Amino acid sequence: MESLQRLSFVSFIALLAYFAFLASAELHVREFVIEPKPVKRLCRTHQSITVNGQFPGPTLEVRNGDSLAITVINRARYNISIHWHGIRQLRNPWADGPEYITQCPIRPGQSYTYRFTIEDQEGTLWWHAHSRWLRATVYGALIIYPRLGSPYPFSMPKRDIPILLGEWWDRNPMDVLRQAQFTGAAANVSDAYTINGQPGDLYRCSRAETVRFPIFPGETVQLRVINAGLNQELFFSVANHQLTVVETDSAYTKPFTTSVIMIGPGQTTNVLLTANQRPGRYYMAARAYNSANAPFDNTTTTAILEYVNAPTRRGRGRGQIAPVFPVLPGFNDTATATAFTNRLRYWKRAPVPLQVDENLFFTVGLGLTNCSNPNSPRCQGPNGTRFAASINNQSFVLPRRNSIMQAYYQGMPGIFTTDFPPVPPVQFDYTGNVSRGLWQPVKGTKAYKLKYRANVQIVLQDTSIVTTENHPMHLHGYQFYVVGSGFGNFNPRTDPARFNLYDPPERNTVGTPPGGWVAIRFVADNPGAWFMHCHIDSHLGWGLAMVFLVENGRGQLQSVQAPPLDLPRC
Ligand code: C2O
Repeated sequence: MESLQRLSFVSFIALLAYFAFLASAELHVREFVIEPKPVKRLCRTHQSITVNGQFPGPTLEVRNGDSLAITVINRARYNISIHWHGIRQLRNPWADGPEYITQCPIRPGQSYTYRFTIEDQEGTLWWHAHSRWLRATVYGALIIYPRLGSPYPFSMPKRDIPILLGEWWDRNPMDVLRQAQFTGAAANVSDAYTINGQPGDLYRCSRAETVRFPIFPGETVQLRVINAGLNQELFFSVANHQLTVVETDSAYTKPFTTSVIMIGPGQTTNVLLTANQRPGRYYMAARAYNSANAPFDNTTTTAILEYVNAPTRRGRGRGQIAPVFPVLPGFNDTATATAFTNRLRYWKRAPVPLQVDENLFFTVGLGLTNCSNPNSPRCQGPNGTRFAASINNQSFVLPRRNSIMQAYYQGMPGIFTTDFPPVPPVQFDYTGNVSRGLWQPVKGTKAYKLKYRANVQIVLQDTSIVTTENHPMHLHGYQFYVVGSGFGNFNPRTDPARFNLYDPPERNTVGTPPGGWVAIRFVADNPGAWFMHCHIDSHLGWGLAMVFLVENGRGQLQSVQAPPLDLPRC
């Protein structure tokens, strides 16, 4: 009798959970008004482009399975579009957002509603403007909780803290970009890094606004670290506290403990932190990991982790005790950056494609465009050139008359071609001393076609043209597995034997080791036009990008949906 009762109780709970599951999917209807707002940082006020007057922008909190309808109303003087970084947008490239790739930009005075559903994704992602340099101030966190009742693979702390790392210019970032586009030289580096929009104690006029995170002794919290910076990989660490990595780019990892993380633009990393140190005040800090031989912002942003029972100073000079500062690696500490990324593993056995249908080899790196008149004010790059960047010597140019996805869907010719090269046009010692004749890429708007459900492998090979560098390569519409990486030139005979096809980390953005290569695999199961590019905005502007055109499969459920009626036109 008792066991029968228990059984019916158990099935009752199961039934409840099932109904909760059915009822749990929610529709989040939001308005994002793009508008200038006075924002004061580093002693000066700028009319920053914001969402709803907020900087950083609003955090979206949703569950796996939920749908979103976000109406973006453009009340700024710039064209804009918003990208939901890391959301797969299955069969729905129309909601992806990169301007001139999947949509035309939203013009001033116009609006567009991004409608999409979260399908089998959970974790930390983010959203940002995908229009020139507007994402310098237009970005926010997008947090996806598991479906109701669905567990985390680790013990999830009660408290969750988004940590958005950003870059601040003491100028209008759009003017910084415009100047660089005119001169052909590298854009000015940022004036500050920020944590949740605030530079912190080490910058002028910033102390009063430094972000503080109160914490209870013994408490464990999850930090959702997002690198929303435009151009810089960062080291991040918290004084005296260990960080346990549990997730990257919305994919769980095998937990491991570290005192520092390296995070590239576009990437997210969730870490657990336990307040197990002496009650006190501790800085969390981020500063550059700069792998290139190039100028960079050498400042440090801080926020304060504050134990609620931290002692205060008595007597004269009463008040809060000074926070402890963390040990951060040197700006060029590639060994630490590499040791960190090499520890990442998918949390369980990963469904990695074992056979490869499309074996692609992409050189990624910088270049220089020669000028007929090297003394021209438009040729202020090295030795009277203009900076460029490319994949397989193709320097990507955004179309103007239409977006690639719209042109493809409407069968409109003349916007792009599908002859993006699967391998570099010439083979050379990619990371050696490259002859000058190979420094100048070719401009074009080329896509690479993939058959529906093809198993794709891409080896991304950094080059030493101009400088070797860590390029955080981001693929839209997909998550991929990082099956291998190394320094020097990729060796197709020996390196694949060492690939991790068991538990490689899953990501949407992966850095090429400077002067090295990284191999990724994914199944092309999402039809549409998907941008792949370096998430360093300077490099993106110079052409470090390409587009995958993934064909439809057979049925309706394998084909791109019809575009929404309010999709902006060019
Ligand atoms: Cu987060 Cu195409 O970018």
